[in-house]
Amino acid sequence: MRVWMTGGGGFVGSNIVRAALDAGNAVTTTGWSFAAPAGAAYDVVPVDMTDEVQVRESVASARPDLVLNCAILNDWDRMYGDREAAWAAYVGATRHTSAAAADVGAAYVLVSTDWVFDGTQAGAHEETPPNPVNLYGSLKLASEMVALERGGAVARVSGVNGLHLARPETPRAQDRGFGYFVASIVDALSSGRTFTVWEADDINMRATPSLALECGETMLAIGEQRASGVFHCCGADAVTRRELAELTCDVFDLDPSMLRYGPPDPESMLAAPVPYDTSLTTPRTDRILGRSATPVRTLLERFKTQLEQPEKAVIT
Ligand SMILES: NC(=O)c1ccc[n+]([C@@H]2O[C@H](COP(=O)([O-])OP(=O)(O)OC[C@H]3O[C@@H](n4cnc5c(N)ncnc54)[C@H](OP(=O)(O)O)[C@@H]3O)[C@@H](O)[C@H]2O)c1
Repeated sequence: MRVWMTGGGGFVGSNIVRAALDAGNAVTTTGWSFAAPAGAAYDVVPVDMTDEVQVRESVASARPDLVLNCAILNDWDRMYGDREAAWAAYVGATRHTSAAAADVGAAYVLVSTDWVFDGTQAGAHEETPPNPVNLYGSLKLASEMVALERGGAVARVSGVNGLHLARPETPRAQDRGFGYFVASIVDALSSGRTFTVWEADDINMRATPSLALECGETMLAIGEQRASGVFHCCGADAVTRRELAELTCDVFDLDPSMLRYGPPDPESMLAAPVPYDTSLTTPRTDRILGRSATPVRTLLERFKTQLEQPEKAVIT
């Protein structure tokens, strides 16, 4: 397939690029601030996803089989401070990319999130009605509606772990979500530092972790099938932060006595509500893709294998 996507220089996007290249696809990604390394096996085009003309011209010239919208405005202060820019970056970009896909007859996938749920909807499946509690979730839900009404697919990822393959130097730190959680524990414990697992009522405390590379593979499978509707791109098991921390120690042979449990760093908190339990289930995804979601232990073992292969830790 030829894949045109936004956000290939981001954390999740770089893993989609890797998965696409590994499966023999040709990839064009937007580069907002990202530039391809010399000799890269994929194309980076300087396209602003909020500019309809740029998006449509770039997609028309690439003539992809699959258009994938992964990029986001990932800055909560800006999102809350400039609502028009936020709407343009989420809903506007979804409109432009889905229209561009339709122009060339390409399949369409929008990357979304488990934060479209309110934190009390444990085990939400693909047809559970969302109920976002913050602006990010609301913008994602509005974007989902655009993608779905235009016959596209929505790929919700959750608790994304793994490596940033475009910017490996990106600091890995625990935050109020589950992203980077495993890498942060591995970084700390393997260099002899303790790690405090945050526990509080106002952060995301339970989720269904995924591995970014596997999310990319699932999205490509959705695109290959030209499937539409909502998909949950996550593992099979919902876990708490504590359970995921302990399992990480087990899989990565790290000392669990180096784990501490305590309140979050106040500086990392958001001035917005955060959903508590965003665990997902995957019945529709499994049925349509003809597979079973991967157990969380297996995802961590795969992540460990990735870390042991530094040549696979960056997209070139
Ligand atoms: N990380 C998680 O744990 C998680 C959880 C749930 C859902 N998600 C979803 O996964 C997707 C990617 O998230 P991420 O964490 O990987 O984000 P990220 O690392 O912050 O990447 C964001 C990307 O958006 C691009 N971008 C920003 N503004 C742009 C513009 N105007 N035009 C074109 N590109 C622009 C950036 O481009 P440059 O690289 O060129 O600067 C960057 O590649 C999002 O849809 C997010 O909602 C992530």
